Amino acid sequence: MEKKCKPEDIGLKSFFLGPQSENAIWFQSSVSQLLVRWFEWRQGRQVEDGRAISPKDQASPEFQKQRKITTDILADLSKRFEEEVPKYSPRYAGHMFSEVALPAMLGHIAALLHNPNTISGESARVGVQIENEAIEELLKMIGYSPSEGTGHFTSGGTVANFEAVVRARGRMALWMAGGAALAELNGSIPDPCRDAVVGWQAFDRVILELSQRDPAWESRLDSWNFEKTGFHHFASCLNDVFGVSIDHPVMLVPSHKHYSWQKAARLFGFGDETMKLIHLDARGRMDVGHLNARIQQAKNHDHPVMMVVSVSGTTELGVVDPIGDVASTLRQAGFIWHHVDAAYGGFLATLTKDVYPEMSDELQAGLASISASDSVTIDPHKLGYVPYSAGVFMVAQKRNYCLRSIEAPYIQYSGLDRGPMTLEGSRSGTGVAATWMVAKTMGLTPNGFGRVLARNMHARRLLEQELSKAKMPAHIVQTTDSNVLCFVMAREGEPLSVVNTRTKAMHEKLSQPDSRFIVSTTTIDWQHYGALCERFAGSWGASCDVHEIVLIRMCLMNPFFMSKETAIFYPEAFVHEIDSLAMSAG
Ligand SMILES: Cc1ncc(COP(=O)(O)O)c(C=O)c1O
Repeated sequence: MEKKCKPEDIGLKSFFLGPQSENAIWFQSSVSQLLVRWFEWRQGRQVEDGRAISPKDQASPEFQKQRKITTDILADLSKRFEEEVPKYSPRYAGHMFSEVALPAMLGHIAALLHNPNTISGESARVGVQIENEAIEELLKMIGYSPSEGTGHFTSGGTVANFEAVVRARGRMALWMAGGAALAELNGSIPDPCRDAVVGWQAFDRVILELSQRDPAWESRLDSWNFEKTGFHHFASCLNDVFGVSIDHPVMLVPSHKHYSWQKAARLFGFGDETMKLIHLDARGRMDVGHLNARIQQAKNHDHPVMMVVSVSGTTELGVVDPIGDVASTLRQAGFIWHHVDAAYGGFLATLTKDVYPEMSDELQAGLASISASDSVTIDPHKLGYVPYSAGVFMVAQKRNYCLRSIEAPYIQYSGLDRGPMTLEGSRSGTGVAATWMVAKTMGLTPNGFGRVLARNMHARRLLEQELSKAKMPAHIVQTTDSNVLCFVMAREGEPLSVVNTRTKAMHEKLSQPDSRFIVSTTTIDWQHYGALCERFAGSWGASCDVHEIVLIRMCLMNPFFMSKETAIFYPEAFVHEIDSLAMSAG
C-alpha cells in the first residue's frame, strides 16, 4: 500500500492536532500567543490605575497556600479527564463528534478569554459582530441569501429546533389572527386553516384593509392572536363568533425525527398529538406521498399545519430527505413553514462532485434544496469540528426571524443585537468564534471544508469494502448519503433476535474504557422504519421473530481514520476486531 498522503491533503493536516499530538508545538505556541496578547491588552489599559496584586502578596504564605490548592485541584481535574471518552482518536467512531479542528479550538479559547455574552452589544461589542459574520458564512454555505437571511448561535441543535417552532407558531398565529380580525370587521366567515398558510403578501393586504377601516386595528388583531390569548381561547372565540371549528395545530415530522421534536411538542404546550409522523420509504427517507396525504388529512380535520420538518443527516442513519420534493409539495399547499433539521448534515452542503465524484444526483439535489426552505438548524459542534456548544438557527428571510421580540428593561439593545429575539438569554461567544475561525481558515467551500467531508465519505466506502472481507457476513444499511455507517453481522437465515443479541454483545465490548475501538448502537423498528426494516432483514433472509433491529452505528468523522502513514490501518484493524467479536459472541 502506498504510504504517502496526496499533496492536496497535506494542508488539511495542519487543521487537526493529530492522534499523537503531532501539531502540539504549533498549537501550544498559538495558545501562548493568545494568552500573551490578552495579558498585554489588560496591562495596556488604564496603566495609571496601578497594580492590585503586588509581588510581595504573591510571595506571602497565604497566597502560596491558596495557589497550591488550585494547582492541586486542577491537576486532579486534569487527571480525571484522562478517563474521558477519547473522542479525538481515529479509533473512536461512535457519536456525532470527533477530533476538534485546531482553528476552532483557538477561536473558542480566544473568545473564552474575552468572555463575550452575545445577548447584546453591551456585553459583547466584538462578539455580536463575529456572530454576524459567522452567520453570514453559514447562510452562504447553505445557499440562503446573506442579505435576506439571518440567524443566531444556540447551545445546540435541540434549541435551534425549538427556535424554528417558536417562529412557525408565531407566524401562523399572526396570519390566522389577520383572517379572523378582517372577517369580524366584514361580517364574513374566516377559514383559519387556509389563513394559517396564507403567505406574507396576502397577509399584508389583510393588514392594509384592516388599518384603513379600523383605527383600533392593532388591538383587534391582538385579540385574535392566539400567541397572546392562548389557543383554546382563540378556538372557542372562532366558534362563538363565527360558528367555525378548529382543532389544534400540527407539526408534520418524518418518523426518523430527532427526539427534540417531541420535546418541542410538549414544551410548547400542544402535546404529543401536535406531532404527526410521516412514513419513510425503504431507504429511510421521508415518503413525500405520505406527506401529501398528511397535509390533506390535516385540512380535512380542521388542523392548521404549523410546520413541516425534513432532515439532512438523520440521527440514526445519516440519511438526507428528498428536500427538493418536500419543498415542491409544500408549494402546492400554501405557505407552510418548512424547516430543515440539518443539525448533523448542514456542512454536507460544502460537498460537490468535484471533491466527491461518487456523490449521487439525488444527494446533490437534496442538499442544494436546503436553500428553498424557510429555516434550518446546523450544529457546528457536530460535522463542523467545533467544540461544544455550538448550534445555529437560521432563516431565509429576516421577516420570519423578527416575528416577535421581548426586551429586558436592564439591557440596552442596538442594531445587531439578537437578544430580544432568541429563546436563550445569555449566550456564550465561544461557539461563534470557533465557527468563525473554521469558516475563515478552512473555508466553508468545496475546496476547503468539502475536502475534509469528502474524506469521511470515502472512509465510509472504504470501510464497507473492508467489512465485505469479514468471515462473519456484515450487512450494511444501504444509505450512502453521509458518513454514518450502520450494520449488523449475521449468518444467512439467522433470526433477528439472535442477531440483535450478538450486536448488543459486540457493542457492549466496544464501549468498555479499554476497548480498542468505540462505536455506538441504535435501534430501528417496524413502527418507524417499516419498509427499510423489511428490506434490510430480508438481505440475510432473517426470520423476523422480533420487530426491531439493533445496529452497530459509526459516525466516520475522524480525519485520520484512513491515514496511510500510521503504523496501523484503522479500517482493516477495525474489521478484524469486529469480526472476532462477532465470532466470539456466537
Ligand atoms: C438531526 C438532529 N437534530 C437535532 C439534534 C440535537 O442536537 P443537540 O444534541 O446539539 O441538541 C441532533 C443530535 O444528534 C440530531 O441528530
